[in-house]
Amino acid sequence: MLKTMTVSLLALHAASADDQMATPPDSLDVSERVEQLLSTLPTEDKVKLLTGIGFSIGKPLPGTDNFMPGVAGYTWLMPEHGLPSMVLSDGPAGVRFATPPPGQAPDRLATAFPIATVVSSSWDGELAFKMGEAMGREARSYGIDIILAPGMNLHRDPLGGRNYEYYSEDPLLTGKTAAAAVQGIQSTGVGATIKHFVANNQETNRPVLDTIVDERTLRELYLRPFEIAVKEGKPRALMTAYNLLNGTHTSQDSRLNLDILRDEWGFDGIVMTDWFAGDDPAAQVAAGHSLLMPGTDRDRASISSALEDGRLDMDALDQALRPTLRAVLETDHLEMEPADFSAHAVLAREVASAGTVLLKNDSVLPIDAGGTLAVFGVGAYDTISGGTGSGDVAEAYTISIAQGLEGAGYIIDDAVAERTEAHVRDFNAALPPRMSIFDPVPRVSELVLDPAVIAAASLTNDAAVVTLSRLAGEFVDRAVADDFRLTDDERVLIKIVSASFREQGKPVIAVLNVGGPIETATWRDDVDAIVVPWMGGQEAGHGVADVLSGVVNPSGHLPMTWPAQYADVSTAENFPGQTVTDTAVPTYAGFGQGVPSRVEYQEGLFVGYRHFDRAAERPAYAFGYGLSYTDFDYGRVRAALVDDALNVIVDVANTGDVAGRDVVQVYVSAPASEGTPLKELRGFTKTDVLSPGEKLTAEISVPMRTLAAYNAEDEAWVVAPGRYRVHVATDAETVVATKSIRIKKEYRF
Ligand code: BGC
Repeated sequence: MLKTMTVSLLALHAASADDQMATPPDSLDVSERVEQLLSTLPTEDKVKLLTGIGFSIGKPLPGTDNFMPGVAGYTWLMPEHGLPSMVLSDGPAGVRFATPPPGQAPDRLATAFPIATVVSSSWDGELAFKMGEAMGREARSYGIDIILAPGMNLHRDPLGGRNYEYYSEDPLLTGKTAAAAVQGIQSTGVGATIKHFVANNQETNRPVLDTIVDERTLRELYLRPFEIAVKEGKPRALMTAYNLLNGTHTSQDSRLNLDILRDEWGFDGIVMTDWFAGDDPAAQVAAGHSLLMPGTDRDRASISSALEDGRLDMDALDQALRPTLRAVLETDHLEMEPADFSAHAVLAREVASAGTVLLKNDSVLPIDAGGTLAVFGVGAYDTISGGTGSGDVAEAYTISIAQGLEGAGYIIDDAVAERTEAHVRDFNAALPPRMSIFDPVPRVSELVLDPAVIAAASLTNDAAVVTLSRLAGEFVDRAVADDFRLTDDERVLIKIVSASFREQGKPVIAVLNVGGPIETATWRDDVDAIVVPWMGGQEAGHGVADVLSGVVNPSGHLPMTWPAQYADVSTAENFPGQTVTDTAVPTYAGFGQGVPSRVEYQEGLFVGYRHFDRAAERPAYAFGYGLSYTDFDYGRVRAALVDDALNVIVDVANTGDVAGRDVVQVYVSAPASEGTPLKELRGFTKTDVLSPGEKLTAEISVPMRTLAAYNAEDEAWVVAPGRYRVHVATDAETVVATKSIRIKKEYRF
């Protein structure tokens, strides 16, 4: 009805549904219409509206008038009540439609942006906003009402299969980036969904995994990012998780969804389940869910029988339904507007280079475009643009790293390129066709070229670029062997390339096309530079070329620690948990595989740098680390308490030869107490571009509440009086200056 379209094809399509729509009385505002609907809708329709219309990636489903293959879900179309069907589509790296058969272009365009980890590596909220805004515009151009992003679970363990969809091991960086992404998406009128609430930090056994977390850890690490995103981003929706939390499915947990989310944090949007999550639909409604997704007859039968036998009353049902009705009525006013896909491709390229992290540079980068490069590694030709599963975007194209380098003016060694491309082609041609996004994608094996070819290339090229690549995605966690660690073929390739090129006095540059940390300590001495563009979306190759050539001075910083070896992380002994037989854990398996199991977060708050700060082992690269082609100098640090906030001021000067941006990180050490990390990130800012010689004053304000620790006994956030040390740092291991401040009174929240 009100969803007017500017795209003619879609206008035709919508006209039929519009014609049948009951016209609402103009005089009522949205809240009044919601209340009117609640008093007039038949119970059966209320139950339908609490559940989606079902799940089909390919076959149209009755119940919507806007079926688009590959989107994740819909609410029921009810023209007789004036209710259109809302369309929900995945993110977080772009709007997801069905993946076309090999060789065929997608029938609907969506920009494949870089993965979430690229966005957080930029430490740039404005960029997260801009990318969210572009995704919102694309969603709106198709009549999609809600994007199922951002994902914001913590990188508890580097092997988490979906870490690529998430931001960081740190709650503040996660929460702030997510809040900016939500604001960006919602600035277009489309709703955002923060997910997966909460402690969904692994894929193994996810539908039947009981996650045991103590209250303080839960509050400070795992709930905190959601709290920030809810309060600052005001998302229209939140998705609960597959896992159980301390014995209860997160989707059936009233304390989590009603007491904490709604009452404490004031969230009044849609709470939806993850797809097929949980085992008791009536309990999900009682726990405040407004939408059970994708919606099944079983859900509807279970809710109806709970209403009949009194386990669920109509007030609770109405209360749960309110946010869904409100969202349906609000998004109904959105006009479909065409999106500017060319501008979004430019933005995708900007994000790709802005989130690229330079880990090592022995004065070899940037390399002038126009030089000759021998480009090794299958990932340079078959570049991974994003992860697999629901976070996969059906990109129209992916600029490979080799294409990006060529496009920038580098001359690529033909012999190396032809052999590697042929290997990729042969491998992929032999694969069985992929039937759905849920099928695993076997990764092309690495090619170790004949040492004679490598030696010949070292004579005729200025430098070697070796790309290592890794898949990551939904349903599976990563492995240590051949994933966190290099494969034997990769090791051999690096060794031979390194020996040949160094013999000629020529540099070797490693490019890591990965979704998360890999082992670097055993081979980094064999290369002269390490660049991490992660999975850079459809413009990945351009992003890499922009950084290697110096068109963009890298300013990305790691949003997670890169351990030297997997065994050094605090969760190594406790990931992905144990299977259980004695179980209170229900055996019902939803979407995804699983056997009942339990994982105990015994490490408490000591995840990532919070762990390495007190551990004997040093990480390969610390949280927050990232090099630049220029140098920054920090002036005197000033720290003071102003109006119940900690104000930190520092001058940052570009003392090098090229323009660049830096990330100023503020960590605070609270007075020592049991179970408290040595220091925690409490604020950060990304500087504007500073020209050589230019200086700016960075000011970071840390509200008192951000300094608070959770006292589980008192159920309160507390800032204890005492001496706090304020560190200005360039990464978690490199403190530039420390100031001491005294907080005289106790603060409680
Ligand atoms: C994922 C969600 C996703 C949903 C719909 C689930 O498997 O966990 O993140 O939004 O599917 O595609």
